[in-house]
Amino acid sequence: LQAYTLLETRHLIEARPKSGFFVRARVADLVPAPKSPAGVQKTMEFTEVDPLDVLLEDRAGARLTPLGLAVPAPDLLPGVKLARTLAAVARKLGPSGAAYDEAAGAEALRTEIARRSLQWGCALKPDDLVITVGATEALSLALRAVCQPGDSIVVEAPTYFGITRMAHDLGLRALPVVVDSDHGIDVEALKKTLRDHRVAACVLTPNFHNPVGFAMADERKKHVIEMLSRRRVPLIEDDVYGDLPHAGPRPRCMKAFDASDSVILCGSYSKTLAPGYRIGYIAAGRWRKAVLDLKRSASLSGPLLLNLAAAEFLRNGGYDRYLRHVRQIYGEQIARMKEAVVDCFPKGIRLSRPRGGFLLWCELPPAVDSIKLFHSARAAGISIAPGPLFCPRGGFRHFIRLNCGQTWNAQMERSIGILGHLARKIEKS
Ligand SMILES: Cc1ncc(COP(=O)(O)O)c(C=O)c1O
Repeated sequence: LQAYTLLETRHLIEARPKSGFFVRARVADLVPAPKSPAGVQKTMEFTEVDPLDVLLEDRAGARLTPLGLAVPAPDLLPGVKLARTLAAVARKLGPSGAAYDEAAGAEALRTEIARRSLQWGCALKPDDLVITVGATEALSLALRAVCQPGDSIVVEAPTYFGITRMAHDLGLRALPVVVDSDHGIDVEALKKTLRDHRVAACVLTPNFHNPVGFAMADERKKHVIEMLSRRRVPLIEDDVYGDLPHAGPRPRCMKAFDASDSVILCGSYSKTLAPGYRIGYIAAGRWRKAVLDLKRSASLSGPLLLNLAAAEFLRNGGYDRYLRHVRQIYGEQIARMKEAVVDCFPKGIRLSRPRGGFLLWCELPPAVDSIKLFHSARAAGISIAPGPLFCPRGGFRHFIRLNCGQTWNAQMERSIGILGHLARKIEKS
């Protein structure tokens, strides 16, 4: 009975009166994946406010259902244990805990990350790593180390909006290359872009991509690296979600196949430990000195106590146990979200099939303008991320990204119902 109750809570079976328990049909599994739009995206101007500015101001505790930003619910992060670790580390260090950290970041933390890199297929040494303020600083350092203002870089379409905005702020021209919903970057389209343009770097998120959720197969990773290194184009790899497969082993990084030292690996613990601790890292290979110099001039060093607390947690805090637990939860939350979306949204939607992480990419019927949906959803107390944010030149006008990192509950279910209603209204208007 306990097993049945658990399966029912997880929405895997349903009780039918006087008949018993039955495996629930997962209608959402039959929904097709979003299509990659052919060709270059159309330029798009935000007529009113830039939704990204609005979205980035969303904070935990705001009275909005948080489906917009890619953040896990605080109760799904090991915050309490981490805070205890931080207090113990601070007590032990006493006044010396207030010292500057070294520019590369505490050796204890680099050692733990290097140890974990064996699982990514990389075998990094502590000295290969520089600790950064989240993956954001890692990506910024990487771009600044390999590009000059005016250069062109390849980005995925769609891609994480932080990369697009960073490229813009650094005076870089972002060339979007479409991705396949299940397999990752379109290799033929990438080849053509590399042939037609002088490209200074390529930025990819091969493991549980934001927003689409695919994980590239190892063969494709190898193929893309060979293609880039033949043309001497450095690859900046963003691996923020790599630790979060829903099942099976952790995927390898592209850096694991980097025979010509042309991959800069960026990552962080923002999605798995604490976004606010800002623990990120970069393994920059031959650009390490350039990255370290840039890091010194930008911020001298990172916060010593937070870095040491993260090191201690990775060493002793049950990080792997925590991951095993939360990976499964994210898989289930995505499944619940998909079912609710299929139930409530207009006919003809397409949904991504993430194999890790906690994001869902939805293609709505073409008549549903996601910027309009963004504004009307906000007025109804729901935050979502509209598609045009995920491409440097807009496009993806009828796509939205939904954050499934929040614990599934009645408020979520209600919010998806309201979103579906609003989408239908826009479709008919
Ligand atoms: C793909 C991707 N890269 C980088 C980041 C930024 O990570 P951090 O919070 O560690 O700076 C995010 C955050 O959402 C992300 O989704």
